[in-house]
Amino acid sequence: MNALALSSLDPLLPSPLEPVEDERFTRHGVRLLLKRDDLIHPDLPGNKWRKLAPNLAAAAGRPVLTFGGAYSNHLRATAAAGRLLGFPTTGVVRGDELAGRALNPSLARCAADGMRLLFADRATYRAKGEPEVLARLLRHAPPDTFVVPEGGSNAEAVRGCAELGRELRDGGVDVAAVACGTGGTLAGLAAGLGGGRRAVGVPVLKGGFLGGEIRALQEAAFGGPAGDWRLDERFHFGGYARTAPDLEAFAEDFEARHGLAIERIYVAKLLYGLVALAEEGAFPAGTTLAAVITGRPDPGQPSAASR
Ligand SMILES: Cc1ncc(COP(=O)(O)O)c(C=O)c1O
Repeated sequence: MNALALSSLDPLLPSPLEPVEDERFTRHGVRLLLKRDDLIHPDLPGNKWRKLAPNLAAAAGRPVLTFGGAYSNHLRATAAAGRLLGFPTTGVVRGDELAGRALNPSLARCAADGMRLLFADRATYRAKGEPEVLARLLRHAPPDTFVVPEGGSNAEAVRGCAELGRELRDGGVDVAAVACGTGGTLAGLAAGLGGGRRAVGVPVLKGGFLGGEIRALQEAAFGGPAGDWRLDERFHFGGYARTAPDLEAFAEDFEARHGLAIERIYVAKLLYGLVALAEEGAFPAGTTLAAVITGRPDPGQPSAASR
């Protein structure tokens, strides 16, 4: 895959940086901007584009194999890229109990885009980084297949996300905030944002292990620590895809105020955290704060409350 083929997908880059009027920020002298990465591409929105594009460039048109859960946005984006750019894709799905059952809408979309689905039991899925386990999985994929890790977070992806940081720096942002799963987006964003500016990550998983993983990703991508970043671990609402009436009410209210559909698993928790931080006085008056809208709601996804 060369840069020309990727640019034929016509991504909206740099993504728009939109000011929003929200008195919960303005009353503290904070200017809030929304970094609309959700608008980059209809099939590869947000950090999916940022992370996949450099990996597809590295794959150079070879077949791609990657990994994800039953509702993985990353699997869907990879399958769509394969359809659009004409390379074969294989998706290793966590959970062999799914094999032989009707596909959920997310996996059905992957299959319709031509992705070959392999259902792995949980032990195999956990061990997918081990060479012999990976070799076994690759036997089911076409020869010369390029492997992209789960969630797409590797050194290439992190370097791709540095461009997001540079766009924010060029937009005059002082503090940039992003929701974190693997931390790859934050690792790259912080590096691109550079000195004199701050990046804040809001993990959506419970665990407290993410700091070490972000340092390791930065080491792999840039050879050492990069940028000024920190995590605020208070807004995961119990863990991945967990929610609370409070969070749902917040997201609905934000949608009504700003006419923007809010993705619940990541973006809602980020925005909730930012309102709380502004209320605590975490941002000095005069701060330009950008919230990265890393994705958009997916009608195929079960609602967070039902998981
Ligand atoms: C919409 C959305 N926002 C944020 C993230 C978190 O990205 P990362 O895993 O790089 O921390 C993801 C995960 O891929 C995502 O799908």
